[in-house]
Amino acid sequence: MAGEFERHPNSRLLEGKVVATLFFEPSTRTRLSFETAANRLGARVIGFADPKVTSGTKGETLKDTIIMVSNYADVIVMRHYLEGAARYASEVSPVPVINAGDGANQHPSQTMLDLYSIYKTQGTLDNLQIYLVGDLKYGRTVHSLLTAMRHFSPTFHFIAPDELAMPEYWKQYCLDHDISYVEHKDFNEDTIRDADILYMTRVQKERFTDLMEYERVKDRYLLKRSMLQKVKDNMKILHPLPRVNEIEYSIDDDPHAYYFEQARNGLYARQALICDALGITLEEVINCKSFIL
Ligand code: CP
Repeated sequence: MAGEFERHPNSRLLEGKVVATLFFEPSTRTRLSFETAANRLGARVIGFADPKVTSGTKGETLKDTIIMVSNYADVIVMRHYLEGAARYASEVSPVPVINAGDGANQHPSQTMLDLYSIYKTQGTLDNLQIYLVGDLKYGRTVHSLLTAMRHFSPTFHFIAPDELAMPEYWKQYCLDHDISYVEHKDFNEDTIRDADILYMTRVQKERFTDLMEYERVKDRYLLKRSMLQKVKDNMKILHPLPRVNEIEYSIDDDPHAYYFEQARNGLYARQALICDALGITLEEVINCKSFIL
């Protein structure tokens, strides 16, 4: 469905619908791509980018907020700083809730665009060598990517300092679901030479309780252009963004760099997600002849 939206991004499929975007945490890509997705399909958008402007500041609970918004909107897209908030919202909401990131837990809509990006660049999702680098503890995108890729026989390589290693319960998840993984401490041109996907992540400063610890680890893994000498021709560098100090800017025009295209794919993947949440089928998307020019 994302591919169909990439070919035809503008239509009136969602005319008459209202999409609510509730962002209790900062965002650039996720909120704007969801809102663009809704706008390009003819829906209207309500919501907030900053919870300080809501009645949450007066003490209104998340439950009451969600019930109220469901009075106004057909689907809710929500980012929240608490793990499990999206699941909770979905349990109290009469309309579909899409998780746009819940704390350090998951970021499933990011994973849908990651899968689309991997498929577009590799021609398959099967049997890939996927290297996850950086903050594997708090980086919710890598947790969601693990859960999705379990269907496609990947081999994961976890590259992180001890303080930000993949949590034990996610490693147990891999064992339980026959996902192969290898852990590395080194990050150099030899470590990454077999990668199909090199997935860089930002150290999530906002999740640290001890900022001294953040200072110790924040610049540990920087991808330098000189490290790309031995990589596979079709290796692609992904990053959910924002980037802080994980990828040298000189890599941006290298053919291995794919992170900005990856972010653009988010528009098409999120158009598909909103439609799917509203029960719109691929056939309906393909047959929609009502285009916005
Ligand atoms: N990838 C991502 O979630 O980016 P934003 O925080 O800017 O939405």
